[in-house]
Amino acid sequence: MYTSNILAAGVLFASAVFAQNATQAIPPNFKPSATTQLLAKFGSVQLTPGAQLGINVPATQPQLGLQQAPVNYQQSTWFLTMVDPDAPTPQNATSAQILHWLQPNVKLSAGSGAGAFPYVLANQSAPIAPYARPMPPPTSDAHRYIIYLWQQPNATFTVPAAYSGYSATNRTRFNLTDFAARAGLVGPVAATYWLTANNTNGPAPNATGPVVSSTAAATATSSRAASATSSKPAVYTGAASSISAGSLGLTALIAGAGFALGL
Ligand SMILES: *[C@@H]1O[C@H](CO)[C@@H](O)[C@H](O)[C@H]1NC(C)=O
Ligand SMILES: *[C@@H]1O[C@H](CO)[C@@H](O)[C@H](O)[C@H]1NC(C)=O
Ligand SMILES: *[C@@H]1O[C@H](CO)[C@@H](O)[C@H](O)[C@H]1NC(C)=O
Ligand SMILES: *[C@@H]1O[C@H](CO)[C@@H](O)[C@H](O)[C@H]1NC(C)=O
Ligand SMILES: *[C@@H]1O[C@H](CO)[C@@H](O)[C@H](O)[C@H]1NC(C)=O
Ligand SMILES: *[C@@H]1O[C@H](CO)[C@@H](O)[C@H](O)[C@H]1NC(C)=O
Ligand SMILES: *[C@@H]1O[C@H](CO)[C@@H](O)[C@H](O)[C@H]1NC(C)=O
Ligand SMILES: *[C@@H]1O[C@H](CO)[C@@H](O)[C@H](O)[C@H]1NC(C)=O
Repeated sequence: MYTSNILAAGVLFASAVFAQNATQAIPPNFKPSATTQLLAKFGSVQLTPGAQLGINVPATQPQLGLQQAPVNYQQSTWFLTMVDPDAPTPQNATSAQILHWLQPNVKLSAGSGAGAFPYVLANQSAPIAPYARPMPPPTSDAHRYIIYLWQQPNATFTVPAAYSGYSATNRTRFNLTDFAARAGLVGPVAATYWLTANNTNGPAPNATGPVVSSTAAATATSSRAASATSSKPAVYTGAASSISAGSLGLTALIAGAGFALGL
């Protein structure tokens, strides 16, 4: 019974004035919508939502957190999804959505120590599909990578039958909206996103680039982008900066080889 009151009302944050800014959580016009920003750090690089990241920056899974906790957060179990709606290219995303991460059984707790988020997320079990680093084809414009936080319906997650085949080695043509509905996920509670390309138009491999403004997005659409209103991500054409990605590779285990689908 522990989540019933939360489920009935949606996921509430203690402060009504907190973080109502959809443009900082998801790509322009994207669905499902989320108004609260999920905080993310790749090593020492804190993500600014919408920024273009060099190909090496998101090489391993980010640390995630929240600025403020939903009410009764200790009694709930949380769930993470990450998708790429732009594979193999934003203009013709025939493989989308690519499932980049499917992590049940996440706990939210108060952060501690220098550099920690106010509230931090930590998985209590193995992922269903482990974090897979962005690998957009070098011939593609930047892809969008979107991480959503959801509330799990209860403490024992069951994969919906229609999605039982998804795993580290089967990630294409995922439908996040459909999955969330079948799984009974509540939310999204929070989200964040970035863009990554693997070509010389973007930031250097270990650098971060500017936030891509919504007005820069062009109008290419994709029938495979599930519930997303897909728009072509702009390609960063400015000079690459030299911000270091810091020490990466501390925590994540990447699914092994054979992941050359252009993700
Ligand atoms: C929402 O986010 C956008 C993009 O970062 C920013 O320009 C705008 O000022 C923000 N609005 C509010 C009310 O915080
Ligand atoms: C999109 O990709 C599919 C599969 O590769 C291909 O058959 C189709 O011609 C492409 N469409 C466009 C408009 O490029
Ligand atoms: C959490 O996820 C990481 C990365 O996939 C994994 O190595 C670790 O075993 C998971 N933790 C638990 C408690 O299963
Ligand atoms: C990026 O592209 C280069 C070729 O230009 C390739 O060698 C490298 O493996 C690619 N990196 C990723 C993460 O896909
Ligand atoms: C818990 O949630 C799962 C979906 O992940 C559902 O299949 C199951 O019936 C739920 N269990 C209870 C006791 O509500
Ligand atoms: C991937 O998973 C889906 C959903 O369970 C399934 O329909 C499909 O056959 C699987 N594909 C492969 C290659 O395993
Ligand atoms: C760039 O990123 C790669 C992959 O994470 C790492 O091995 C390398 O040390 C980084 N280089 C610098 C200069 O930070
Ligand atoms: C994804 O699922 C939703 C909800 O079931 C459905 O409306 C939509 O058409 C699906 N998208 C694709 C590309 O199959």
